[in-house]
Amino acid sequence: MTPSASALLDWYALQRRVLPWRALPGQNADPYSVWLSEIMLQQTTVVTVMPYYMRFLKRYPTVQDLAAAPLQDVLAAWAGLGYYSRARNLHACATVVAEMGAFPQDVAGLQALPGIGAYTARAVAAIAFGLPVVPVDGNVERITARLHAVDDPLPKARRTLDALATRLNDDPAAHEAPSDFAQALFDLGATLCTPRRPSCLMCPWRDCCKAHALGMAERFPVKAPRKIKPQRYGAVFHLRDAQGRVWLRHRPDTGLLAGMTELPGTHWGDEALSIESALNQAPIEASWAVSGQIRHIFTHFTLTLSVFAAQVPDFGSLHNQAGFACPPGLLVKQALPSVMLKCLALADRS
Ligand code: ADE
Repeated sequence: MTPSASALLDWYALQRRVLPWRALPGQNADPYSVWLSEIMLQQTTVVTVMPYYMRFLKRYPTVQDLAAAPLQDVLAAWAGLGYYSRARNLHACATVVAEMGAFPQDVAGLQALPGIGAYTARAVAAIAFGLPVVPVDGNVERITARLHAVDDPLPKARRTLDALATRLNDDPAAHEAPSDFAQALFDLGATLCTPRRPSCLMCPWRDCCKAHALGMAERFPVKAPRKIKPQRYGAVFHLRDAQGRVWLRHRPDTGLLAGMTELPGTHWGDEALSIESALNQAPIEASWAVSGQIRHIFTHFTLTLSVFAAQVPDFGSLHNQAGFACPPGLLVKQALPSVMLKCLALADRS
């Protein structure tokens, strides 16, 4: 049995989530809001995104406002959301769109913009412009894998799932309401067809779902075993002067956490550092105390950082190094990634 788009849309009419970027029934979605929310929602949950989205929209109400903002301010507003290349691309995309005057209204035009891949192009096209395309994110992959009990593991099964998800759109009812249909799929994945303990008995597609018929919804999508993440180690130095200012620096413009703000520190290598070898790399001589260690999980490795703290009357010779003294009240305005917030919190406690 093919899944009925009408059954899903009827369920959505009753159960749709109220989300700040979502147009109310009968209203048109604003392409800027849709694009902004879709970029934020990549690899991040709705609950985490919500306050960031509200703050961004208040601070940058239009794509022109975002384009006109300095990149450092945008990175600072993004700090804590992770995957910072998204913030750089967001800014680059806003610049291009502001020059164009508006977002392109087709999938290819959208996908040509910085930071917009196949998923986001289809999501904006469907939600903001009503084009009949199915955006396939993790939710939609899971729903499709269950509907068809796809045995192939992810990520290999991605193409198959994409093709199967696209076929959901063959139903004319989906074609007539692409925006609602896409968002109904997201809501189904987020509220009923969840990764664990799915609520199959409430699902509008229960009767046509092969995984449910097998009594094994939770088994799908099958995933290839995860690779063990490599470990990396380093040290950071939290130096405070008599005015309570902290010495910070900017990371290089390319690579991991590009352009973000950090405490000065060592290279992150494969081997754990002894206290002595870490302190040999301290930015200045001071009576360094060990605050402790933090762990942070990045996409491709896990990082353990030893945090050292010291108090000095003034930053002295540090002024010859790249970096700046940040007054305590301005810390919140810095583009500090979560890993650095953990280090600062640890140093503050000791
Ligand atoms: N996940 C991805 N895009 C979404 C959206 N627009 N609404 C809710 N959840 C989503």
